[in-house]
Amino acid sequence: MTQTFDQTFDKDIAEKAQAIIARYPQSRSALLPMLHLVQSVQGYVSQDGIRFCAAQLDLSEAEVSAVATFYTMYKRRPCGEHLVSVCTNTLCAALGGDAIYATLKDHLKVGHEETAGEPGEPGSITLEHAECLAACDLGPVLQVNYEFYDNQTPEKALELVKALQEGEKPAPTRGAPLTDFKQAELQLAGFFEGRDADLDGPSAAEETLRGATIAAERGWTAPSTPDNAEFPPLPEKK
Ligand code: FES
Repeated sequence: MTQTFDQTFDKDIAEKAQAIIARYPQSRSALLPMLHLVQSVQGYVSQDGIRFCAAQLDLSEAEVSAVATFYTMYKRRPCGEHLVSVCTNTLCAALGGDAIYATLKDHLKVGHEETAGEPGEPGSITLEHAECLAACDLGPVLQVNYEFYDNQTPEKALELVKALQEGEKPAPTRGAPLTDFKQAELQLAGFFEGRDADLDGPSAAEETLRGATIAAERGWTAPSTPDNAEFPPLPEKK
């Protein structure tokens, strides 16, 4: 093969791609983690990355492009060392998410999905709006490389981003220790490279478990599911 992706995606990446494919009964099911693997190399899904996935999975480039452009976690432009995602969905926005985004936007002098600094270089930051990050009880929240920083304020978020620009990696509120965007993408592809312990990081927050904790203290339990639950018949699909 003479495609330029041979230089970009070396033997190690091709082997990882084959390991991903081996996880599934049908190779095309491997496309989502494969796209994360591509991002772990280049920091985005390039045209070469699309060709690489298509060749590995026996798909057309159009099929791979359709998926890569549908999901927001697949980036079409190179990301910074860190991806900062500020939740500006309704609840976080009302609690200060919009102000956090505006503060970071002013500081970094970039807009949505734009990068301050040279993409991939140390201290470079890509900023983005994010939809609900499923942590509304801890809002306003932001994520760096998909790790959570809960209960943020504009001041705390600015301090965090300045630290990232200085090369520091402040600990997330919960979950795994912070790495960088490419390393996080490798993990999303299913490769932990000696960081398997990251999976054990405490991900649940006290606030999230409060209902369960109160129920346990008071001895409340949900009714058990009967062994033979009968479900109403589903309407026939036509
Ligand atoms: S609205 Fe921000 S986490 Fe749900």
